[in-house]
Amino acid sequence: MKKVVILISGRGSNMQALLEAKLPCEIVAVISNRADATGLDIAKAHGIATAVVSHREHADRTAFDMALAQVIDGFRADLVVLAGFMRILTTPFVERYRGKLINIHPSLLPSYTGVNTHERALHDGVKIHGCTVHFVTPTLDGGPIIIQAAVPVLRGDTPASLSARVLREEHRIYPQALRWLCREQVWLDTAGRVAGNRLEQPGVALISPGLN
Ligand code: GRF
Repeated sequence: MKKVVILISGRGSNMQALLEAKLPCEIVAVISNRADATGLDIAKAHGIATAVVSHREHADRTAFDMALAQVIDGFRADLVVLAGFMRILTTPFVERYRGKLINIHPSLLPSYTGVNTHERALHDGVKIHGCTVHFVTPTLDGGPIIIQAAVPVLRGDTPASLSARVLREEHRIYPQALRWLCREQVWLDTAGRVAGNRLEQPGVALISPGLN
């Protein structure tokens, strides 16, 4: 069974969704760069080992990433899952975990990389927004996409209401993506593309506002 380490910085609701999803893997540790991350308490309540690697205690990104990698490797992790981990990782770190490092981002990438995605989507008046799970590459929020969920943007939405709608879907697609990786049903191929043996489903179109 694959060993998974989850990295967080705060609330940890995606981490919690992963812990509660009964995935075919062993979640061996949750690591935070902030000692006050509330997600650490949730992890402890689930009986998961926790560790803090504070970015403040390291001179620069390179030193921080090296310390982080040492802790991750101490848990013999096969997969590293970023769940609200708010640090930009250096290229050597990302390359060390090529094909083993995934992230969830609160937008339909490649739209709205970076922060404040919900505010920017509302400002632009898009009618469909969502979330993305992707492999991490050195390009910020630019790695190959594994799964996405789309939600409508509604009249009267605020960043908070839109974020809540997107977050519900994050909690559905992140466990799904990790399940695929754990079962080796999805992987990053040598050309840097997402490959897998999952059958695509036709599904239905999300049209927003709806037709009537
Ligand atoms: C989520 O919206 C995630 O997509 C983004 O940061 C947020 C973390 O939330 N990367 P939580 O800590 O998982 O509750």
